[in-house]
Amino acid sequence: MRAVTWQGKRKVSVDTVPDPVLQEPTDAIIKVTSTNICGSDLHLYEVLGPFMDPGDILGHEPMGIVEEVGSEVGDLKVGDRVVIPFQISCGHCWMCDRSLYTQCETTQVREQGSGAALFGYSKLYGQVPGGQAEYLRVPQAQFSHIKVPEGPPDDRFVYLSDVLPTAWQGVAYADVPAGGSLLVLGLGPIGDMATRIAQQKDIGQVIGVDLVPERIARARAHGVEVIDLNEHGDDLLAVVQEMTGGRGADAVLDAVGMEAHGSPAASLVQRMAGLLPDAVARSVFEKAGVDRLAALHTAIDLVRRGGTVSLSGVYGGMADPMPMMSLFDKQIQLRMGQANVKRWVPEILPLLTDADPLGVDSFATHRVPLSEAPHMYEIFQKKTDGAIKIILQP
Ligand SMILES: NC(=O)c1ccc[n+]([C@@H]2O[C@H](COP(=O)([O-])OP(=O)(O)OC[C@H]3O[C@@H](n4cnc5c(N)ncnc54)[C@H](O)[C@@H]3O)[C@@H](O)[C@H]2O)c1
Ligand SMILES: [Zn+2]
Ligand SMILES: [Zn+2]
Repeated sequence: MRAVTWQGKRKVSVDTVPDPVLQEPTDAIIKVTSTNICGSDLHLYEVLGPFMDPGDILGHEPMGIVEEVGSEVGDLKVGDRVVIPFQISCGHCWMCDRSLYTQCETTQVREQGSGAALFGYSKLYGQVPGGQAEYLRVPQAQFSHIKVPEGPPDDRFVYLSDVLPTAWQGVAYADVPAGGSLLVLGLGPIGDMATRIAQQKDIGQVIGVDLVPERIARARAHGVEVIDLNEHGDDLLAVVQEMTGGRGADAVLDAVGMEAHGSPAASLVQRMAGLLPDAVARSVFEKAGVDRLAALHTAIDLVRRGGTVSLSGVYGGMADPMPMMSLFDKQIQLRMGQANVKRWVPEILPLLTDADPLGVDSFATHRVPLSEAPHMYEIFQKKTDGAIKIILQP
């Protein structure tokens, strides 16, 4: 089959690789019909390179049709139309019983000290072959699937794999008081979707911050009050305070993560790590940390005293310095983590109707064949050609 593979820093290719086969009775194989590129893939493309091997198959936002099933996959059948969550979880362990699917004790990657295994997401998360491919082996398939109805286009459902539950959890964890304000940092797919979800809830004021013109325009067109960092890089705090009665936002959702613009010293450290042999670079990453906390620091500044900071953006350094004095003095609640996908699906599904209140049918900016993946990674990372969300169609 053809698959998108990681080959090195900022280098992916589309190769012929062996077709996946059933290995366990709880496995299924799906024929992939749509599979997205995610902001999380950009971390692999750039800073998490030391945890990848050339040839690793990328991708964790797939959907498709069940092609083959093992003997213990419950009611999953050949021919079912399914979305596959980005995390692999069993559905019956202590963590899964508490809906903490990204901490699944059956698939935890213990040798790395990590939570549940993820598709296509480096040695840190089990080095499981990913879904940017014609076919995907789904472990723990009895639970790691979401059945969706026939009829509507893939676009209607494909974001259930990641974007929708991640944005949903980010808003839920932000815990905005009724009628209160939510500031979303970063208007990529996750931040943009979070603003749309916030508008469906009892949140009085939704403010977005980014610096990419199309992303700003898109959020503004949805009725979000947007602050352009190109204009307000220096007086952002003052602008937000003016918009929020002088206090700051009740909650800030950081939908940026560790690829933030605005930490030049950090990117130097990062570039140095990129030049080191992998083993050394891994240890720099794990022990020295990677100071890419620009967005998190901004979130802590912009939230009001006694407010909540919700992190959807992924952070990775083990020793990143935290501004403990501000966090403690401002009495900030900090909530974060990979999204527990199936925890939120029942709440999201009623919004995936023909009326399309979240605008999922027109959310993608690019729908292209798998073969165009290398160029798509490039424009998504550089934020050129209007690339906001890219669906690959194998
Ligand atoms: N928690 C989860 O389960 C989960 C799931 C999916 C994605 N993520 C993470 O969410 C984050 C966003 O993902 P995405 O797909 O939207 O990616 P993206 O890279 O397209 O979006 C990030 C956005 O942040 C903007 N930005 C950069 N620096 C900024 C700054 N200093 N202030 C404000 N905005 C800034 C960028 O211009 C961009 O629009 C990534 O870190 C990704 O890994 C987490
Ligand atoms: Zn993703
Ligand atoms: Zn489990």
